[in-house]
Amino acid sequence: MSEERPADRLARRVASREATVAVIGLGYAGLPVAFTFAEGGFQVLGLDIDEAKIHALRTGRCYIAHLGSERLAGALGRGRFEPSHDFGRLAQADAIVVAVPTPLTPQRDPDLAHVVATARTIAAHLRPGQLVVLESTSYPGTTDEVVRPILEATGLKAGADFFLAFSPEREDPGNRQYTTATIPKVVGGVDPVSTQLAAALYGAVVERVVPVSDARTAEATKLYENVFRAVNIALVNELKLVLDRMGIDVWEVLDAAATKPFGLMRFDPGPGWGGHCIPVDPFYLAWKAREYGVTARFIEHAGEVNARMPEHVVDKLVRALGDRGVPMRGARILLLGVAYKRDVDDARESPAFEIMKLLLDRGAVVDYHDPHVPRMPVPRRLPSLPALSSTPLRADVIAARDALIVVTDHTSVDYELVARHARLVVDTRGVLRGRRPNVVQA
Ligand SMILES: NC(=O)c1ccc[n+]([C@@H]2O[C@H](COP(=O)([O-])OP(=O)(O)OC[C@H]3O[C@@H](n4cnc5c(N)ncnc54)[C@H](O)[C@@H]3O)[C@@H](O)[C@H]2O)c1
Repeated sequence: MSEERPADRLARRVASREATVAVIGLGYAGLPVAFTFAEGGFQVLGLDIDEAKIHALRTGRCYIAHLGSERLAGALGRGRFEPSHDFGRLAQADAIVVAVPTPLTPQRDPDLAHVVATARTIAAHLRPGQLVVLESTSYPGTTDEVVRPILEATGLKAGADFFLAFSPEREDPGNRQYTTATIPKVVGGVDPVSTQLAAALYGAVVERVVPVSDARTAEATKLYENVFRAVNIALVNELKLVLDRMGIDVWEVLDAAATKPFGLMRFDPGPGWGGHCIPVDPFYLAWKAREYGVTARFIEHAGEVNARMPEHVVDKLVRALGDRGVPMRGARILLLGVAYKRDVDDARESPAFEIMKLLLDRGAVVDYHDPHVPRMPVPRRLPSLPALSSTPLRADVIAARDALIVVTDHTSVDYELVARHARLVVDTRGVLRGRRPNVVQA
């Protein structure tokens, strides 16, 4: 009897749910993927270099609040999810999904150190018949030009011995309407067999798989999605600056424009941009474009506009305090919200940090309130920031501050209480619309 080919064996094990799926990187992107495979009937091995995370998961503590401990308990309880930091276990996996960070260097170039380190770890355990899928967002060519050579240095060949694909993660933290299983999954392999196998793997647990020609197309698709957001956020932030000068209420304009039933997607202005993806990913494409002699001008401009917004907010505050005869040096300022967006506990790349730094540089005394972020993580980029804890939002606290800045529009905050007791509110999110003597839009 002829021996079963690696691709056929993998397809059979996926179809029968005998396959073990390893997920490397159990963060915001990787953990929901791990849960989804476990809920879909697969045995899941969750791997992370962060031992504290592995310990938390093993003891039933889900450190990503919006995922909920029930999903973790369900996956652990059914014996389908095994968190581990023993990367030697990779040899047991049929499929390996990679969701490690892809940040920027201080020069704002792609930093693929985590992807490269992970690819080397996989290479050390790679065996024929395995499927490797990169989910970390990166520039077109990463899977083919960076990951593939590391894996092929083992002597095994992609498309014949092992299989390799890219499939972007499309999580929208805090969005209860969609789950990993109901968000269509784009998949592109470095060859047709890899595409097919990766499509079969995700097809077993998500409602709709969208296969594309190759890994580069899948990588570019993800970047386009995030460039779309980055550019539209910049556009509406720029509009806010222009209309502010003209004395036109940007929120009224946006509410009215949003009644157009076609051809318009609403974006709201804010204090800048934040999160792990939108301020980062577009620069991966801009960087790669330069290799081809192309300047991605929309991306660069969006970066400039969004990165300047914290300065605009602080300028507005300085002027409003000046009008009230309050100097910035020694002024007590409370930031309302440090999470990068509404109702999430994620403060990565939040514009709150830049605002805080600008305030501290001017001699202000700063604290914050955020119901979702009890302790403020000090960002690597701004290590001089103090490690603060959330101040309770009471009437006496509000009244004791020279100003409050609404940075994040969390829904659980009582903005009327704020407006009633604050001497001054600088509102970057339009939570206190209409004319009020103590509210300044910024
Ligand atoms: N956060 C999101 O909503 C989101 C959405 C789409 C895409 N992504 C992409 O997913 C990737 C991961 O982002 P994230 O938000 O989940 O980051 P994260 O920091 O929340 O999680 C990454 C995890 O990887 C672990 N890790 C780092 N290096 C590792 C290594 N060498 N081996 C094993 N584990 C390692 C970290 O300890 C961490 O737990 C990024 O490329 C990001 O752009 C994230």
